[in-house]
Amino acid sequence: MAEIIDGKAFAQNLRKRITGQTAQLKNETNIQPGLATILVGEDPASHVYVRNKNKQTKAVGMASFHHELPAETTQQALLTLVDELNRDDAVNGILVQLPLPAHIDPMTVINAIDPDKDVDGFHIHNVGKLAIGEPGLVSCTPLGCLMLLKDQLGELSGKNAVIVGRSNIVGKPMAALLLQQHCTVTIAHSRTRDLAGVCRRADILVAAVGRPEMIKGDWVKPGAVVIDVGINRVEIDGKAKLVGDVDYAAAAEHAEAITPVPGGVGPMTIACLLYNTYQATCMQHDMAERMMDL
Ligand code: GUN
Repeated sequence: MAEIIDGKAFAQNLRKRITGQTAQLKNETNIQPGLATILVGEDPASHVYVRNKNKQTKAVGMASFHHELPAETTQQALLTLVDELNRDDAVNGILVQLPLPAHIDPMTVINAIDPDKDVDGFHIHNVGKLAIGEPGLVSCTPLGCLMLLKDQLGELSGKNAVIVGRSNIVGKPMAALLLQQHCTVTIAHSRTRDLAGVCRRADILVAAVGRPEMIKGDWVKPGAVVIDVGINRVEIDGKAKLVGDVDYAAAAEHAEAITPVPGGVGPMTIACLLYNTYQATCMQHDMAERMMDL
């Protein structure tokens, strides 16, 4: 049976390290990292996510600035707020919660954020930096996956990595990160021929497709490490349940190690947001020596 990769414990430990670094920064320089969140509209899931982000920001000793705007907010009003936060020295990170209402273009808003404060790593400058291997802010979920993989495997060089899913926020940045780690990277997706065969070649299998239990147990090579990014709400015997993109029980028969859902990748995302906020603060104050290792 596979080892269970405990993302909840890893995230807890990462937050503890961030708390220590944040306290030290405040003591020695009087700088307190600050994260601003912007939530537009009434999406209930987004409200839960943002509330969690703000709670955890305060819990590690950072300043949290939350802006809640009505669904009918104009794009111009949102851009004005982003511009104010760009110019506010107390704000080191800016997160605009997605999805935005349909009348607002998300890329226009994201690209209006100062790239040095783009703690989501979604700004076109940061996406470009990642693509050419320059240091920049990296999307939180793939960053969290990379931390779990390095913790599990140590050196990743030469490994066959297969990523199922080609989204801009997970699949593509995950591929760039693993390429930087000298993996041989394949991105598979809904049009991939013989998906099962492609997955069976993976030493590292990252599932980020958003389809419940799509990756079957016998698609997992014996000894592979499986990272399941999926969080799918399904109903089983009349009960609501969260499942990943991987058929966990069957995959665990083949894998060396696997992330569970919940308790795997999920908790890493907010921890990495706080990590990015801390790193961004150090960069903005020319204190590279205080930055944390990956
Ligand atoms: N909505 C769902 N996930 C995310 C995320 O990681 N960042 C932002 N900004 N919005 C989201």
